[in-house]
Amino acid sequence: MAETSVVTLSRHIVEEERRHPEATGAFSNILYDIALAAKIISREVNKAGLVDILGQAGSRNVHDEVVKKLDVFADEVICKAMDHTGDLCCMVSEEHPDIVAIPEKFPRGKYVLLYDPLDGSSNIDLNVSIGTIFSVHLKVTEGPDGRLEDCLQPGRRQLAAGYVVYGSSTMLVYTSGAGVHGFTLDPSIGEFLLSHPNIHIPESTSRTYSVNESYYDLWGPGQRQFVSELKRQEGLSARYIGSLVADFHRTLLSGGVFMYPADSRSPRGKLRLLYEAAPLAMICKEAGGGAIDGHGDILDQLPTELHQRTPLYIGSLDLVECARTLVSGDSER
Ligand code: AHG
Ligand code: MN
Ligand code: MN
Repeated sequence: MAETSVVTLSRHIVEEERRHPEATGAFSNILYDIALAAKIISREVNKAGLVDILGQAGSRNVHDEVVKKLDVFADEVICKAMDHTGDLCCMVSEEHPDIVAIPEKFPRGKYVLLYDPLDGSSNIDLNVSIGTIFSVHLKVTEGPDGRLEDCLQPGRRQLAAGYVVYGSSTMLVYTSGAGVHGFTLDPSIGEFLLSHPNIHIPESTSRTYSVNESYYDLWGPGQRQFVSELKRQEGLSARYIGSLVADFHRTLLSGGVFMYPADSRSPRGKLRLLYEAAPLAMICKEAGGGAIDGHGDILDQLPTELHQRTPLYIGSLDLVECARTLVSGDSER
């Protein structure tokens, strides 16, 4: 019987922290608090199907509580778990147009948290996997309060990035630059247990290519050529869930490429740079893969707006490089 050591996320974070003697523990606290928020969101996601019984979003449920849309709920859970800890100087959320300031009454810290509280919202009522994506930067401006400049940093400067996928099990996957590690939630003990240490994107035969082909008529010639070349490749199947986190998680574990390209209607694509593409690009690069916007690396893009969009090609290096050669002529930089 293989020896299986039980390593909780908390234990893993402590061991990671020991590798950085200068660490203050604030960074570990952020990861720990995100895991706490993920457990609360997971509990709510896993009974989403019962909303009909408990009452539709906006109505009052059997417990006479106002039922919130899950992405609003998830956003509030993360805000409430993180706003008082003294680790953050501000937050950026897909659900808020502007920077989320730390309330006056709470202490500020030196980190910025950027996040998509619930990714794949269109799939919530269909019982299809959804997720949460997060990115952590170090504050770069003077003074206690986070400013726009602290949020608009290139992905290469991220200190950590991760996601939670609420699927057949709830998994948290993160990197702080020392490998990519996956933890599976054991709801019976409320702990994330290390289940996928040191994830590397494999050169496997069960690779997939993932794109919403209903936009074919809107694609440029290079994009069309890339996808038709993928169709001819041995050992490459088509898969598209429509939840970025679920599509990326499959790509990370089985290899292949996920893409949300630019097209004639959306020249910058649909996905957001700061809290979708950049964190997943950090994870994918750390796992031996790559991520581009059709021209350059996602991690080198210099953000100018909080919610700016970017085309995304992410996954196995050979396929991402093939995309770069074929699609770079489809759109200007
Ligand atoms: P969100 O729910 O956070 O807005 O993200 C939805 C995104 C992403 O999860 C997914 O890859 C993409 O929307 C799917 O878009 P299409 O339905 O256009 O394929
Ligand atoms: Mn999203
Ligand atoms: Mn979202």
